[in-house]
Amino acid sequence: MGRLEGKIALVTGAGNARGLGAATAERFAQEGAFVYLTDIDLAGAEGVASKIRENGDMAEAHAHDVTSEGDWDTLFAQIRKGHGRLDILVNNAGIAILKPIADLTAADWERQNRINLDSVFYGTQRAVALMRQTGGGGSIINLSSMAGLVGVPACAAYGAAKGGVRTFSKVIAMECAAEGIRCNSVHPGMIETAMQDVARRDNPDGFKEIVAGIPMQRMGTPADIANMNLFLASDESSYITGAELVVDGGATAM
Ligand SMILES: NC(=O)c1ccc[n+]([C@@H]2O[C@H](COP(=O)([O-])OP(=O)(O)OC[C@H]3O[C@@H](n4cnc5c(N)ncnc54)[C@H](O)[C@@H]3O)[C@@H](O)[C@H]2O)c1
Repeated sequence: MGRLEGKIALVTGAGNARGLGAATAERFAQEGAFVYLTDIDLAGAEGVASKIRENGDMAEAHAHDVTSEGDWDTLFAQIRKGHGRLDILVNNAGIAILKPIADLTAADWERQNRINLDSVFYGTQRAVALMRQTGGGGSIINLSSMAGLVGVPACAAYGAAKGGVRTFSKVIAMECAAEGIRCNSVHPGMIETAMQDVARRDNPDGFKEIVAGIPMQRMGTPADIANMNLFLASDESSYITGAELVVDGGATAM
């Protein structure tokens, strides 16, 4: 029996085959969940969902801009119609605009916060409402970052949004604990996805040096994060809420 057998999950930003959302959706499906996977890139999400179905598991792709409350409402109406409940939400969609403070524009700041923080509020509010209505608890997993815990240069907007995700998750955990609805934040370090391609391209020497400075001396893999998300999604973590789970090869322990 799979670790998520019978559970209904929603993973946002799951349309990049190399990304953390896709790895999480695939892992959840392997463990028996029905996965709604969404992305602003519908073709990408369809590709990930088809691969999951080809393996005999259950997934459905939806177009979804996480900054649009209308898109969230449409999606939740589809989930209500399709399954009538939701057990797991992973707020994973995100972008990184990495600029030193002198170069950061107000538009950069706003876009970063819209996609990485406002979206987490929109999704969590709707998931909590549905989980409350159906009873039986639930698990909300919000992707923060090591940059939401410590100061990382060029991450003023990114870090502010991810720090917001961390505290927001703790507040939701407190508001919902008695109902069995858990909410935790996950804090990846440097994980090998498209998000890191830009940083590597823009600063190849500095990038190598940063990776060499990670205590485990390597970047993480999407599977490292998918496995953490799986643990938090499953009943194995049933006494964990309001926690910040760090997956960074020791980077923030220094
Ligand atoms: N990769 C890392 O090193 C790392 C480190 C710390 C935190 N994270 C966080 O993990 C999450 C996933 O990162 P990733 O590395 O897989 O990124 P990624 O760029 O590979 O994937 C992000 C996905 O989000 C989607 N997306 C972007 N804007 C969207 C929107 N408005 N609506 C819906 N979908 C949208 C993209 O289309 C893409 O498929 C992000 O929240 C990121 O901040 C990543």
